[in-house]
Amino acid sequence: PKTNTFDLTLKRVTLAPDGFTRSLATINGQYPGPTIEATKGDRIVLNINNELGEPTAIHSHGMFQRGTPWFDGVSGQTQCLIPNNYEFTYDFAVPDQAGTYWYHSHARTQYVNGVVGALIIHDPDDPYLNEYDEEILVILSDYHHVDAEILLKSFLSPASDGNEPVPDNGLINGKNNFNCSQAPPGSTCVDNAGLAKFEFVRNKRYRLRIINTSAFSAFFFSIDKHEMEVIEVEGTYTKRNKIHRLPINVAQRYSVIVTANQPVDNYIMRSEFQKTCMPDGAKNLSVVTAVVHYDGAPEDSTPISAPWKDFLEECIDLKHDTLQPLYDEKLPEATKEMELTIAFHNNSMGVVIAFLNESSYEPDVNFPTLARIFAGQADNLPKSRNAFTFDTVGEVVDITFINTDEGDHPFHMHGHQFWVLGSGNGTKVDKGALNTVDPIKRDTSTIPASGWTVFRFVPDNPGVFGIHCHMICIWHLQAGLLMQLIEFPEEIKKLDPPQAWVDLCNLQS
Ligand code: C2O
Repeated sequence: PKTNTFDLTLKRVTLAPDGFTRSLATINGQYPGPTIEATKGDRIVLNINNELGEPTAIHSHGMFQRGTPWFDGVSGQTQCLIPNNYEFTYDFAVPDQAGTYWYHSHARTQYVNGVVGALIIHDPDDPYLNEYDEEILVILSDYHHVDAEILLKSFLSPASDGNEPVPDNGLINGKNNFNCSQAPPGSTCVDNAGLAKFEFVRNKRYRLRIINTSAFSAFFFSIDKHEMEVIEVEGTYTKRNKIHRLPINVAQRYSVIVTANQPVDNYIMRSEFQKTCMPDGAKNLSVVTAVVHYDGAPEDSTPISAPWKDFLEECIDLKHDTLQPLYDEKLPEATKEMELTIAFHNNSMGVVIAFLNESSYEPDVNFPTLARIFAGQADNLPKSRNAFTFDTVGEVVDITFINTDEGDHPFHMHGHQFWVLGSGNGTKVDKGALNTVDPIKRDTSTIPASGWTVFRFVPDNPGVFGIHCHMICIWHLQAGLLMQLIEFPEEIKKLDPPQAWVDLCNLQS
């Protein structure tokens, strides 16, 4: 197989993506970072050179890491941190995956400070290969002007009352304008920093790969006057279904086909904050925009503004009527059921923290679970490690989430995709509403506010894989919303982790 090598230097750089100057944690000086691209069957090698001034760990979101669980990049679970001024290499194969993914720091709040990038696996067997002429990458994000560690501190204080930090802005491909009159005195800020611009040629067909790298915000994505057809979600091909507005929650990805079938002109691309699931302070946020410029249209004319008006309920995923798998697959029968209840309560300090089944996750950064397994010290983990072990071959597990919280939670499972059998309102699962015929398979799915969702997955990947709310590191993950799935510890012990990985933990002691 071909090896695709990327040299990634993490370092602090002062940038002004939306005109407001701040220090960002960048990859090769860029925000978002460089795009990692490979073809199904390839190897990916990421040479990380950490010059951030603080330790890090890099996670390739959606990659299964079969046979290389030590390269999943999760601080406290699958590795000890990469110290400052240190190099570490991730090296993994993608034998059976293709689609739209991303990579990001999985250490504390770093990804919110900028350590994110797209990860695209091309597919020689893509059934839609002849249905589009070009690919376009669209990275959506919410954006803060204040360092994420400061935001985390205020979130985890009694004064926040559990309200997540409200973003200052949103970006498309790292760009947007900001009204500097709203910036605090003393800041360096210029108005009209500029919007992202996407070039269309009339009658060409584009595959847009859309990634939401936000810390907290769900969006509706759309292009005025242009329909789109969903063809992929997180590595799964879907039937072509026409939509106008695409709901996309934190860490989710979609591919859509858009045909440049409108008169030559400029059009607005929109990423609208879904405000019902945001704290009140978000009310003033405006729609994040970019420009779609047709070849031959004037460069600077005001883009045509004609927002799609279709009503969509906020803070839930696309439903099955527009999100069906392209290929038939026989769904295995469940052999085991687990229930995970999401709740937020005050701790003894008066801080609102998160619980899964009444236990709030606390990582052991210096002795991560995977290292413990190799050391034969993974029995009797403390309750706050939120660890659950699977060691029976052939198990098929239904995880039912009951969300007692008034906010929605986009949950991501590492090392796997899972089938979304259904979701709904209330705390009682409507078994009759579960789809066991053709559910969609993905890796990040929204548990609705005061609602439930059922995931089905097959534990068959020896390693330690987290399932967690992706309002990550921040805000809910730091607050405890993570469960570790330990799969086949005896098989893990037979694997041979690379010395460089073992050394990371030796460096700590
Ligand atoms: Cu995007 Cu735990 O991952």
